[in-house]
Amino acid sequence: MASDAGITSKIRVESLNKSFNVDGRRELVLDDIQLTVGEGEFVSIIGPSGCGKSTLLNIVAGLDSPDSGTVTFEGSPGVSALGRVGYMQQKDLLLPWRTVLDNAILGLELHGMPRRQARTRALELTEFFGLKGYESQYPYALSGGMKQRAAFLRTMLMDQEIVLLDEPFGALDALTRVQMQEWLLQLWDSLRKTIVLITHDMDEAILLSDRVYVLTHRPGRVTMVLDVDLPRPRSYEQVTEPSFARLKSRLLEPLREQKPKEAQGLAGKEGL
Ligand SMILES: Nc1ncnc2c1ncn2[C@@H]1O[C@H](COP(=O)(O)OP(=O)(O)O)[C@@H](O)[C@H]1O
Ligand SMILES: [Mg+2]
Repeated sequence: MASDAGITSKIRVESLNKSFNVDGRRELVLDDIQLTVGEGEFVSIIGPSGCGKSTLLNIVAGLDSPDSGTVTFEGSPGVSALGRVGYMQQKDLLLPWRTVLDNAILGLELHGMPRRQARTRALELTEFFGLKGYESQYPYALSGGMKQRAAFLRTMLMDQEIVLLDEPFGALDALTRVQMQEWLLQLWDSLRKTIVLITHDMDEAILLSDRVYVLTHRPGRVTMVLDVDLPRPRSYEQVTEPSFARLKSRLLEPLREQKPKEAQGLAGKEGL
């Protein structure tokens, strides 16, 4: 892995285990996870639902702690996720009593930016996020996709070095999803943030990433790390190229080996 070749990793997860109490039993959710993300890399995590992806991101973000193992930033145990990580959780977590605009600026306000300045910054981006004209609406009046875009805007406004995205395009229709993927590619090309993305979508994982980690059915274990060596800058047209198809078939192998029920879930998403 490129990030292991002497370069300090931005994020390093080592020998991480996590279990939860389920019906009075201790159930292992994440099993010996190793994951490395170099500075400015785009890494995706793909795996069946319930395999612990969101749990892993919660731990990286510092919202939960592992039973054993470590998460280090910039090679130093002393560096914390706080103030470094922008996290868009799977649930949009918009505050129902705040408008779209005021939800978007929540993080900036919490960091002490005056409301007016924060609003001005957010307003510059609402069109790009497909929220223009909806700035004064409350979350209950929005579609699922719009709520997700508002949460996305809030995350990106924070302008952190590391961005964690948990299925950010999950509630979007296919066309909007492709537009947002291309938009994220452009954003990443220009800002070179370190991004970790969770997705169910193989095309999305390959198109966006430098590397894809495949997790097994629960307990989640890393079963494959796929290097994506497609040239950049990338665009959606690449999904039809033979090199893309070859990567996809390699990714399919470990995903097909999942339990039938889960594999069906993935197949449904991918139209296999
Ligand atoms: N706080 C919790 N307490 C108990 N079980 C949990 C908790 N959070 C997640 N789980 C369980 O851990 C497993 C992994 O959950 P999650 O990380 O959300 O999976 P994924 O994001 O891959 O779908 C699931 O079985 C889920 O029910
Ligand atoms: Mg999840």
